[in-house]
Amino acid sequence: MDFRDKIVIVTGASSGIGWVTAEAFARRGAVVVAVARREKQLQALIEGCRQHSPRSIYIAGDLGRREFAERIIDQTIESFGRIDVLVNNAAISKHKQIYHLSVEEAERVISVNFLSCVWTSFAAIPHMLRQDEAAIVNVSSFAGLVVAPREAIYGASKAAMSAFTEGLWSDLEGSGIHAALVIPGAIDTEIWDKLDEPAAFKGKKTPPEDVAEAIVEVVEQKRYEVIVPRRKLDLLAARLLRLFAPVLLRMGMRRMDPVPAEIVSKARERAERGKRLGDLGEG
Ligand SMILES: NC(=O)c1ccc[n+]([C@@H]2O[C@H](COP(=O)([O-])OP(=O)(O)OC[C@H]3O[C@@H](n4cnc5c(N)ncnc54)[C@H](OP(=O)(O)O)[C@@H]3O)[C@@H](O)[C@H]2O)c1
Repeated sequence: MDFRDKIVIVTGASSGIGWVTAEAFARRGAVVVAVARREKQLQALIEGCRQHSPRSIYIAGDLGRREFAERIIDQTIESFGRIDVLVNNAAISKHKQIYHLSVEEAERVISVNFLSCVWTSFAAIPHMLRQDEAAIVNVSSFAGLVVAPREAIYGASKAAMSAFTEGLWSDLEGSGIHAALVIPGAIDTEIWDKLDEPAAFKGKKTPPEDVAEAIVEVVEQKRYEVIVPRRKLDLLAARLLRLFAPVLLRMGMRRMDPVPAEIVSKARERAERGKRLGDLGEG
């Protein structure tokens, strides 16, 4: 795909992977529609994008709300008449012991990380069908393939996104709309500063530019799936264990970040006082 004057929506563009992805498309001449909640960051991003692609815009709002997710698509169509690439990248982390997580927090993660990509895709597909070609790229996570401790809900949101994308890829056959999945491992972005509880992972993180490159590549080359980093022994080992020795993988995960006995006993005490999960109050 020649990206000049193509209309590319990037959600979660106010930082990290989304930011560098928006820049990567703008540098190729694409008109970027950058989406996130933090308006100041979006303004700064779009200022930079406009040096390459003067028609680029941002739309600020909360993707945890279906009305906003649909509005992004409507507004893009009103402004530009088409959508060539939709990159669903926005997400929030949720790294917490299940005892500390409320059902409301869990629902919020599913809405922002998974349902938002369903809402934007459902709204975008009818418009994309009127064009010769288009692409939907969903940015999932390795946590959707191998779920680490404290990642039950985050992992579930990403596994759902991966399954949804696989289904889209099949169902969109013959439509000219290409569905693709980019699966980042540990990437060096501010998402790591937003974790609720400390991460057990202490390894090296990959620059977000590598993910942006993969996002551009899956569109350009109509590839279905890219894992970033591409050649990493521990990710490969985890995938092989998942396939051939899932028990070993789960045991390894438990050992990597064991649940302290104190956490379970405190959760039991709260349960005996009739508390719901996530209610850590003293009363
Ligand atoms: N970094 C990693 O190690 C890693 C690993 C695997 C997968 N990923 C995935 O990569 C994607 C990008 O993450 P990142 O690492 O670049 O993290 P990030 O810097 O924290 O970016 C997350 C983006 O999502 C936006 N966002 C969050 N909640 C939103 C909401 N309710 N409405 C609209 N936008 C919202 C944030 O902007 P606002 O706060 O301004 O709304 C931000 O722009 C995510 O899907 C993440 O799950 C990252």
